[in-house]
Amino acid sequence: MAVLLTGGAGYIGSHTAVELLNEGYEVVIADDLSNSSEEAIRRVEKITGKTVSFYRCDVREWEALNRIFADNSIEAVIHFAGLKAVGESVREPLRYYRVNLDAAMTVLEGMQTHGVKRFVFSSSATVYGAECPFPYTEDMETGGCTNPYGWTKFMIEQIVTDTAKATGMSAVLLRYFNPVGAHPSGLIGEDPAGIPNNLMPFVSQVAVGKLKRLNIFGNDYPTPDGTGVRDYIHIVDLAKGHVAALVYAEQHTGTEVFNLGRGSGVSVLELVENFERANDIKIPYVFTERREGDIAECWADTTKAKELLGWTAKLGLEDMCRDSWNWQRQNPNGYDE
Ligand code: NAD
Ligand code: UFG
Repeated sequence: MAVLLTGGAGYIGSHTAVELLNEGYEVVIADDLSNSSEEAIRRVEKITGKTVSFYRCDVREWEALNRIFADNSIEAVIHFAGLKAVGESVREPLRYYRVNLDAAMTVLEGMQTHGVKRFVFSSSATVYGAECPFPYTEDMETGGCTNPYGWTKFMIEQIVTDTAKATGMSAVLLRYFNPVGAHPSGLIGEDPAGIPNNLMPFVSQVAVGKLKRLNIFGNDYPTPDGTGVRDYIHIVDLAKGHVAALVYAEQHTGTEVFNLGRGSGVSVLELVENFERANDIKIPYVFTERREGDIAECWADTTKAKELLGWTAKLGLEDMCRDSWNWQRQNPNGYDE
């Protein structure tokens, strides 16, 4: 069975491609490489010893997308493609709404035209309301987004739900918490452009000497050590969650939503201490002002994924820190030579 991964050359898509290939699926990737490198696809092939059909295109281009569906017997789509930088979305809201909504709708139209009935979407914990009590469960109210990026996820969830209802498609909305880490081979990993916004890539770049020290955004939050708490999940666990979601979509119709997290909160200081211990490296840091828009804490209730998908995260914080460093150490400049 062939699965189309839009945005499959990116961080989450490339790791998901490995897990799908390992499970015997055929993988077709459509990516415009606006935030990724074709080298990631070559490395997916190296890890798995299997080939990937790659189309370099913007999935909003109907002709190109149509050709992909016509050339391959695609039975399911996992839609990763989109813009994802929160701060940039605040500065350029129209670009974010245009790209993210248009990409999702064009892909759904392509599926409808070609009779493809299974869809998995990369949503985010950011769709929950900041007022929701922790841990977040899937039935809690959504729409508390604080930036245009988050609103695109909220809106696409609605678009997918309405489309599935109208067409009889089966859709799975996956709300990711904080994916970190890399494939244990160190061949693929997160390769952010410029200075990383997110914690783990920033810490890794401090470790490799590209950045001087970590700025910890606030130590006066109402958390045990005053720093922000998040639900970090190893990228390989997250990728396996997509395989489970595909199987679920094969067996059900309608739309279902799942949290993909570990179900436990980790503070910034805990993550730094674990990174130092796991890799025997000192990470210099200073406390600075809180980052605008950040919440104190956020973690998932993962019961639903465990019960309905039969999926649960297996890897711990030490694995995440070890594998992030392994990738960064072997690829100090990411996929750039
Ligand atoms: P990424 O930027 O590494 O991957 C996205 C891929 O989509 C990139 O390879 C990019 O080149 C491609 N792309 C973007 N627009 C495209 C278009 N119009 N046509 C074709 N390709 C296009 O990001 P990621 O971290 O792998 O995230 C994948 C998805 O998961 C995104 O939708 C993101 O919003 C979502 N998500 C990510 C996180 C996270 O922390 N990484 C958290 C929640 C949700
Ligand atoms: N942090 C620092 N210093 C840094 C970077 C981050 O102290 O240099 C702190 C943040 O303040 C926060 C924690 O580390 O407390 C995690 O921050 P990240 O930027 O790694 O992750 P966020 O939880 O802020 O954001 C992530 C994704 C977003 C998504 C959001 C909610 O990056 O795309 O989760 O799901 F919207």
